[in-house]
Amino acid sequence: MPRQLLNKKTVRTALAAAGLLATLPAVAADLDVVARGEYLANAADCAGCHTDAEHGGKPYAGGLPLATPFGKFFAPNITSDPETGIGRWTDAQFLHALRNGIRADGANLFPVFPYTSYTGITDEDALAIKAYLFAQPIVRQPNREHDVSFPFSWRWLQTPWKWLFFTPGPFRPAPDRDAAWNRGAYLVTAVAHCGECHTPRNWFGAMETSRFLGGTAHGPDGKPVPNITSSPDSGSARSRSISAQSQLRRHPKRDNRNSVSALDALSRPPMMQRRVRTTSRGCGGDDR
Ligand code: HEC
Ligand code: HEC
Repeated sequence: MPRQLLNKKTVRTALAAAGLLATLPAVAADLDVVARGEYLANAADCAGCHTDAEHGGKPYAGGLPLATPFGKFFAPNITSDPETGIGRWTDAQFLHALRNGIRADGANLFPVFPYTSYTGITDEDALAIKAYLFAQPIVRQPNREHDVSFPFSWRWLQTPWKWLFFTPGPFRPAPDRDAAWNRGAYLVTAVAHCGECHTPRNWFGAMETSRFLGGTAHGPDGKPVPNITSSPDSGSARSRSISAQSQLRRHPKRDNRNSVSALDALSRPPMMQRRVRTTSRGCGGDDR
């Protein structure tokens, strides 16, 4: 498969060795997009849900069961297989899914796919993620039907849900904050979707935005998730002796998932370390 050959490190090393990198700017630019997409896909933890690692599932081929109060959802295949994956999806369809939670056939996606946060991802970053996914091995694996009971299984019911609880649109930088703060806020709210686990949810399964990052006793898989706002008594600011960086390194990988967790990804590039620290203090907003 030509796609599998697009291992950026191998290609880049080979090109560099041949002294070709400088003479092939277009190829280098493509590789950069894929590398950037890889970083973003790891930070967004796409593999965390779309890979059934526990049962030997192939990367991004789907099949992982996700238990929710509404039933069990099975993450679909997002490899570029044209029959069972998203190989036929256009850029516009991919963007529509992340920005608006709409599938290629026009049906609503359920918010167990965290498009409620991914909506903030810029077009450029979303397309880099797509380029990365399309550079991965193709896996032919049919999707499993969700095991969700009526009426939650009705996709069209998601339309009024969206009217009530969803604000689409890319992240808008705060003009009164510096670039580092805004970069951190973008990662926390959109790409790494920290709020999806760290924010309590209402009866309809929507994030209670007034308690953003305030922690919840009923996180994914029914487990508690701590308050990570800068609240001195209950937020993560209480553990000042532990640096945000080491807290993030120790961040749990999601259950039975082998992906690089969002936080591992964020805590690796040195530039990001500073930024995450800034936001986990500065972006909390809510002190309850
Ligand atoms: C928390 C789990 C979770 C994460 C993280 C996640 N997804 Fe999904 N995704 C799902 C589920 C579940 C569905 C199916 C939703 C439905 O059927 O309505 C889905 C659906 C999709 C679809 C639609 C596929 C189809 O055939 O209908 C695409 C595309 C997609 N995800 C891409 C991504 C990308 C790209 C990322 C990372 C940026 C990502 N997902 C991260 C759980 C997740
Ligand atoms: C898939 C769910 C999930 C996502 C997404 C998530 N977290 Fe967490 N996080 C958890 C859980 C669960 C714990 C508690 C682990 C424990 O108690 O062992 C935790 C713990 C933490 C802690 C330690 C807090 C303390 O007081 O001990 C920090 C800090 C943290 N998360 C920050 C973040 C940040 C920043 C993001 C986004 C970049 C994020 N988390 C995204 C589930 C998540």
